Amino acid sequence: MTSASTPEHGQLAQALADGIVQIREATTSDQLRTVVSALTGKKGPIASIKSSLGKVADIEARKELGQLVNDALAALGVATDGRSRELRAAEFSSQIESERVDMTEVAMSANVERRLGRMHLVTQAMERLEDVFIGLGFQIAEGPEVETDFYNFEALNMPPSHPARSMWDTLFVESDVDGSVVLRTHTSPVQIRVMQDWPPPIYAVMPGRVFRKETPDATHMPVFHQIEGLVIDRGITFADLAGTIESFTKAFFGPGFTSRLRPSYFPFTEPSAEFDIRRHDGTWIELGGCGMVHPHVLRAGGLDPDEWSGFAFGFGIDRMAKERHGINDIRDMYSDDVRFTEQFS
Ligand code: DAH
Repeated sequence: MTSASTPEHGQLAQALADGIVQIREATTSDQLRTVVSALTGKKGPIASIKSSLGKVADIEARKELGQLVNDALAALGVATDGRSRELRAAEFSSQIESERVDMTEVAMSANVERRLGRMHLVTQAMERLEDVFIGLGFQIAEGPEVETDFYNFEALNMPPSHPARSMWDTLFVESDVDGSVVLRTHTSPVQIRVMQDWPPPIYAVMPGRVFRKETPDATHMPVFHQIEGLVIDRGITFADLAGTIESFTKAFFGPGFTSRLRPSYFPFTEPSAEFDIRRHDGTWIELGGCGMVHPHVLRAGGLDPDEWSGFAFGFGIDRMAKERHGINDIRDMYSDDVRFTEQFS
């Protein structure tokens, strides 16, 4: 700053000097952003000098001051960039430090807090469900995750092109006969396998992983878990189904909970229903589907519908675990982040 000195010259030099100090003293990126927008914003010291440029009578002096304002802004910009780089580097290292995972075997050394692994929330729910059903007299069965069209659809009373097939967005597996092998869309095909393999009476639950062509969001995952139930005996009625759902509800959720059935449609049961569980606050949570096993399904399982009758039910496990632990986004359950899992012991 060489020539004529107006009061604005002095103000500008002061604003620049103060500004540089404030920028250097900012201790976080957020603070730096606040400082810079105060300095260079519409209500800042530089803006007010700029707006008083018009009052400088001498044209040369005005020009020169205008140039100096630009130089000051450029100098503040350079100082900001430098400080911002320093702060980001420091913030990055401290983030790395705080998220560092110690891979050394802590169990071997003394005086180190032992970090134990924990069962996945879905595994915990699955094991509790199995315990409760075993307590009610059920056996556990499992089936393959890669299924044939026959077990996943046809034997469940959905011949080729049956419109109800569109209730499940299906993932297909490459095979010799196009479309004949799928990733099972539900655990219901295990019903057929159990009927074929076990002599009746049957009291079985079948937990497992299922697959659907879904885009993940807060309440959906393309891979999730269900548990299927199947009861086959002589003279089984809808009242047995309602009673079993109610006993399960009380045993699993607690004596204060109740269930209700609402009429619905599934191809493999007739009549069919959906069942809901009443939460503590009086609201209902939709759990799954159920009904009396359709005669076509009994036949596909090798049973005579005149001799045997039964009921079936199926519901999702992930959503239940999500509800139970008050998790907002189902994807968090699959994030693999210890800080998430540690909250649920
Ligand atoms: N498989 C059905 C689904 O994935 C759920 C279901 C409904 C299972 C009714 C059943 C049943 O066993 O009887 O949506």
